[in-house]
Amino acid sequence: MAQLWGGRFTKETDQLVYNFNASISFDQKFFKQDVEGSKAHVKMLGKSGILTAEEVETILGGLESIYNDVTEGKLEITSEYEDIHSFVEANLIDRIGDTGKKLHTGRSRNDQVALDMRLYVRDEIDETKDIVIELVKVLHKLMKEHINTYMPGFTHLQKAQPVTLAHHLGAYMEMFKRDYKRLLSIRERMNECPLGAGALAGTTYPLDRRYTAELLEFDGPTLNSMDSVSDRDYVIEFLSASALIMMHLSRFSEEIIMWNSNEYKFIELDDAYSTGSSIMPQKKNPDIAELVRGKTGRVYGALTSLLTTMKGIPLAYNKDMQEDKELTFDAIDTVKGCLKLFTGMINTMTVNPDRMKESAAGGFTNATDAADYLVKKGVPFRDAHGIIGRLVLYCIDNSKMLEELTLDEYKSISEVFEDDIYEAISMKTCVEKRNTIGAPGPDAMSEVIAINEKFLEDK
Ligand code: ARG
Repeated sequence: MAQLWGGRFTKETDQLVYNFNASISFDQKFFKQDVEGSKAHVKMLGKSGILTAEEVETILGGLESIYNDVTEGKLEITSEYEDIHSFVEANLIDRIGDTGKKLHTGRSRNDQVALDMRLYVRDEIDETKDIVIELVKVLHKLMKEHINTYMPGFTHLQKAQPVTLAHHLGAYMEMFKRDYKRLLSIRERMNECPLGAGALAGTTYPLDRRYTAELLEFDGPTLNSMDSVSDRDYVIEFLSASALIMMHLSRFSEEIIMWNSNEYKFIELDDAYSTGSSIMPQKKNPDIAELVRGKTGRVYGALTSLLTTMKGIPLAYNKDMQEDKELTFDAIDTVKGCLKLFTGMINTMTVNPDRMKESAAGGFTNATDAADYLVKKGVPFRDAHGIIGRLVLYCIDNSKMLEELTLDEYKSISEVFEDDIYEAISMKTCVEKRNTIGAPGPDAMSEVIAINEKFLEDK
């Protein structure tokens, strides 16, 4: 047991208590951030005249050698230490002796862990937003390729109106652009440095908190020391943004699974992104999409868990907050992994435009356009709706589609129909005349694609 405390205790910690309390098995994940934070703290102690220049150099040298040895595999982080902070400090003292004992001057593990977590989450936000952009790039490429790939648009999972694949993918494009922007705004809001808050009430040393903040690339120091050590809002915000990313991926996965099914055959997943069955030789399963959909629950779980952990904690630091780590780390690994796999999966899938178009032609997806045709001829919309409803019923009884009816059949229901009805309800018209911004028509689509192009250039 290597602990940073013990002076006021008369008994050894019970082994079970020690194990229950220790966090080294998971907080070693932010070893890099812990060293980075300690280096900034020591530089600030030097600048503020609390440590001599020589002491600062010695401590920095010690911290660097520990960092190098761990990253090169020469020094192992073991459970002999209570947490990552103890590991670094104990090793520092081993290496440089008494000077090492000055590292923790004007600092508490409470502001230290608050800093480490913040640095870690900030790094992960940066990484995650880059991975989101990779997905956005693939969606952008697919949208450009499929402006004229017709497919049915659905409501209630019933065929509604024809759209294009570019338009359908464009919906996800918007979701992932929002996800990206959300990550940026969280990063902006969280970018304040908690170091120097001490245990909860600051310190009597003349710490230059602005300097520490600057060294660690924060916009400035946090403004309340009690909030600094007990704020995990930014973790919750990041988990919430991650939950939204997963929700978007999960909805998309659900569609990929359906589109890849024998019944739809809209797409075929690449062999490299599919798996087989141990018993049924014919199977090629969309396991990746299913796992992404399944793992969404884990990330929701992390968000719910941390919200619940935090809700009853009085100011300031309480040990409950150690529970912020494992689930957050797992959620981060999950969301990054899912984003990468999903991007590879849709980048390699084969689209079947003929099958999509064939499906778009069925299910009376041009019925609204047929009603609009009557409206343009002066029929009030509600009456037009009724007339087309009766025509659809007639079609169902006679196993025909609207475009297959003769003009006589049309006229038997309403005299208003003319020869131009066929053109008005062709799939080409249904899609291509919908050109208000946001709609699937090719002009509107091209405008949106140009906006997305600019988004990718400017981001
Ligand atoms: N392992 C602790 C955590 O994750 C570090 C802070 C410990 N502070 C304390 N007062 N025991 O929250």
